[in-house]
Amino acid sequence: MSADPALTDVRPADAPAGGTGPADAPTASPGTAPGAPLLSVRDLRVMFTRPGGGRVFAVNGLSYELRAGRMLAIIGESGSGKSVSSRAIMGLLPPSATVTGSIRLDGTEIVGMPERRLRQLRGTQVAMIFQDPTRSLNPTMRIGLQITEAIHLHNKIDKKAARARAIELLKLVRLPAAERRFHDYPHQLSGGMRQRVMIAIALACNPKLLIADEATTALDVTTQAQIMELLVDLREQLGMAVIMISHDLGLAASYAQDVVVMYAGKAVEQAPAEKLFARVRMPYTRALLGAIPRLDATPHSLLPVIGGQPPNLSVMPTSCPFRPRCPVASDQCAEIPPLLEHEPEHRWACWHPDGPGAADQAAPVAAAGAGGAAGPAVASAQPPAAAGAKTLTTPGRAGSATGQGER
Ligand SMILES: Nc1ncnc2c1ncn2[C@@H]1O[C@H](COP(=O)(O)OP(=O)(O)O)[C@@H](O)[C@H]1O
Ligand code: SF4
Ligand SMILES: [Mg+2]
Repeated sequence: MSADPALTDVRPADAPAGGTGPADAPTASPGTAPGAPLLSVRDLRVMFTRPGGGRVFAVNGLSYELRAGRMLAIIGESGSGKSVSSRAIMGLLPPSATVTGSIRLDGTEIVGMPERRLRQLRGTQVAMIFQDPTRSLNPTMRIGLQITEAIHLHNKIDKKAARARAIELLKLVRLPAAERRFHDYPHQLSGGMRQRVMIAIALACNPKLLIADEATTALDVTTQAQIMELLVDLREQLGMAVIMISHDLGLAASYAQDVVVMYAGKAVEQAPAEKLFARVRMPYTRALLGAIPRLDATPHSLLPVIGGQPPNLSVMPTSCPFRPRCPVASDQCAEIPPLLEHEPEHRWACWHPDGPGAADQAAPVAAAGAGGAAGPAVASAQPPAAAGAKTLTTPGRAGSATGQGER
């Protein structure tokens, strides 16, 4: 086992079954104890009650930890509970949601925190950016004003100082011609530039944690790489932790240091990126890798998909939720496999991690994120068996110095 503390970030907590329920939130953040994670999610459960009385078990016992200054990728198909679990960290779930378990951010319990305190927390401790910046920005307001508004929410500074800070933030997110763009309306900016503005707003009050929920999904590949590079650089520069939520395991391989793979509202595999991509153990993670489109595929061939249907979340599973779609399922899979640390820092929930398909993973994906080295070394989007094949290359860091030319 590596002694490097930086490689021990994603650990499920030994959470008691059933959750802890709403906690007494202290009025002042006690801060992170030395060596403690910045974020600790334990046995998080979110259930929605539908107007007709039906229930949706969206998050079913999710546990992970994240240290300050690290980038964690939460990966899974649509509907696996990525957004709901992250919105729980922001306290941004509707009244129809029942949340149990524990989310501790910088030592402060968030589950059960009153809305007044959550408003304080949002922005100052944790901020979130979403897939579609157009929907988050006010189309009738100049972008500069939208950033100064965010600054004024938590800081009592005069107009001039807020303007200076806003321009500083626009420069920090590398918006070209920041002073001039300060007066632009959102429609005058490209999609990539609008996402930079959203990141500037998110950074307005120096959050310790930034959650990027599919923040690059709507962007073209080049702009996606530039925004991801920006997030990596900001994480390093500001010492901020980042959670990137995506359905794209290739993106996680390129940028994240730690990975949590979610299925049916739970973590099914988690590890530092290097370890996970060196040897994927969960058939669902393997299926996600196999579903990544490849440049060396035969022209006009069908895009790979994971066969079968995602699970019905209105009933609690009694067997492994991936069983109906799993190529290596056995009778044993009628019992839900626990998420256990089978190898140092590598956890998976599966009875047959060495089933057919495991051996095909001949050439491991090189995870660039681990160690936070020189940026993406692998393409977003190449399955491990692609050794020798053409890969989708992402621009190097020098190429992403600014948002110039972004579309
Ligand atoms: N407000 C809501 N009411 C009922 N069900 C919801 C609500 N929000 C999300 N869900 C359900 O929770 C599940 C997880 O959703 P989500 O976290 O958004 O998935 P994703 O992994 O795609 O981000 C989905 O089945 C979704 O339909
Ligand atoms: S526990 Fe069984 S059904 Fe579930 S992923 Fe593993 S092999 Fe497949
Ligand atoms: Mg989502």
